[in-house]
Amino acid sequence: MCGIIGYIGERAAAPIILEGLGALEYRGYDSAGIAVLDEVGMPQLYKSAGKLSKLRSKLRNGLPDGNIGIGHTRWATHGGPTDFNAHPHTDGTGDILVVHNGILENYLELKQELVAKGCEFISQTDAECIPHLIESYMREGCSFEDAVRAAASRMEGANAVVVLSRKEPDKIISFKIGNAGGIVIGYGEDEMLLASDISALLPHVRDVAYLAVGEIATVTRDVVKYTRIDGASVKKKKARVSYEAMTATKGEYSHFMLKEIHEQPDAVLDTLRGRVQFDPPGITLPELAFTDEEIQKFNRAVIIGMGTSMHAGMVGRMWIESLAGMACEVDNSSEFRYRDAYMDENTLVISISQSGETADTLGAMEEAKLRGARQVTLCNYEGTQSTRIADAVLPIRAGLEISVAGTKTFVCSLVTLYALAGHLGVKRGLISRKRLKTIVQELAHLPEMIGQLISDQAQYERLALNYARRANFLFLGRGKNYPLAMEGALKLKEISYIHAEGYPAGEMKHGPISLIDRKMPVVALVPKDDLYEKMLGNVNEVKARRGSVIAVATEGDEHIGDKANDVIWVPQASANITPILNAIPMQLLAYYIAVERGCDVDMPRNLAKSVTVE
Ligand code: G6P
Repeated sequence: MCGIIGYIGERAAAPIILEGLGALEYRGYDSAGIAVLDEVGMPQLYKSAGKLSKLRSKLRNGLPDGNIGIGHTRWATHGGPTDFNAHPHTDGTGDILVVHNGILENYLELKQELVAKGCEFISQTDAECIPHLIESYMREGCSFEDAVRAAASRMEGANAVVVLSRKEPDKIISFKIGNAGGIVIGYGEDEMLLASDISALLPHVRDVAYLAVGEIATVTRDVVKYTRIDGASVKKKKARVSYEAMTATKGEYSHFMLKEIHEQPDAVLDTLRGRVQFDPPGITLPELAFTDEEIQKFNRAVIIGMGTSMHAGMVGRMWIESLAGMACEVDNSSEFRYRDAYMDENTLVISISQSGETADTLGAMEEAKLRGARQVTLCNYEGTQSTRIADAVLPIRAGLEISVAGTKTFVCSLVTLYALAGHLGVKRGLISRKRLKTIVQELAHLPEMIGQLISDQAQYERLALNYARRANFLFLGRGKNYPLAMEGALKLKEISYIHAEGYPAGEMKHGPISLIDRKMPVVALVPKDDLYEKMLGNVNEVKARRGSVIAVATEGDEHIGDKANDVIWVPQASANITPILNAIPMQLLAYYIAVERGCDVDMPRNLAKSVTVE
């Protein structure tokens, strides 16, 4: 939700900020803006509604000069996506420039107070209060830093802020209150950068530090001073980013989503590397920092996540139950955090957040921590907020994912959860050597099976031609494939804007069946497993009401072809692995339908890749 960046150093700030905004654009693309202080400290401010490309064209005749600046890419919360509402925001004098990520919960109260003092607002945003507030403290005689501190202490909610002042053009000040997405500070040679996440910093720095809740960083080109908002000083350790600079190019692909779908065989290999041994068979998760005794004592697991990550958790729940022999529930983080959920030290909370920044999941994790539960988190990025709350971190190792609709992060979360369930099962003495061998052998083939599924794409283009103009879709599945029906529906609605619902097939007769007529396509997940006959029954019920069925079925199934209008074939695999394979048809179907409808696949309207507000 909103990307923010700042640069101070010897180089020209604008190209670095614009490049960084490109890396952050997945966080929001309703508008973009940049402010640079020139040699004499005069702000040059440019902003534009729409994507970053609009701002770039505004700047096509030349970038603003200066070695210090800030930038923003917006996901609108207060006020529509207009030029006026774009960041950076300034106070009436233009002395203070602010970029903001989060929601200022008491902005109405602050705005009233500031208007009463004579401040004029030109936007409908909550963010505009911040420069006015800082300037009002400077007018009362505070230094820039003290004014920022005073303003920060008045703000409520989860907010991350970066500020420039024309009066002190040798520093950038940033602070964070509540869990509003990260601020990472990057240490370069005679230069410093700050950004919402590491992807914007990696081309320039390797040493980074993370701002914690309630901290302020005062950043000059060679020193960063950390304090708490109450003034106490803070000692901070730098971390060295271990992975190579992540490159964000589409290469031969027309969209990042398609590229990321194609990257899945390699990504899954990375997820498994070092965790699965073939001879002798074994699953070990060295990162799972719990003793064998603790693992034995866990009597319950709770999986939390949002969106696609929660769907991965819904499958994970069934693996934890069957392989690790633990009672397991799965909950939407935003519900979990506000209900009086029972937890104790024998409860294992498993959170899934590819970004490590989803506000609701972070809130739920904090709640679980307060209640004494042990926690492991699955995350795609080192050092993010979720990884600092949990007791143990399982990196899903999907690699950089740019497209807003999650694909490889979903599959890698599934694979990590499966390995986690296997590991817990081994430690709890529930998985025989023979069973382990079968599990491990099948995992060894998983990347290849995913590769096979991806290679056959012409069928999806044909399906897209037939079905892209339908107004509604129903996705049905049972058991471990019910969450895949939910995920299939989510992918389709996210990127093609077609209304779609995912249901457990057994529930169809309790409502959704009344929607079925010849205009309703039904995607039915019908693998050859214990629930096959039951799914066939549901397919028959749809056909009897003249609905069209796109079946996702197991290679070698001789019956499904007579019943369904179209069949997508999936390689034969066990009931545990099939849901992972079924993710690929869900992704490709949504992708090609969205392309056929001319949608903006990588940046669907109104969405953002990491949702740092509640
Ligand atoms: C947003 C994204 C989804 C993602 C969800 C949870 O809604 O658009 O793709 O599944 O957030 O994100 P997380 O980073 O916590 O996995």
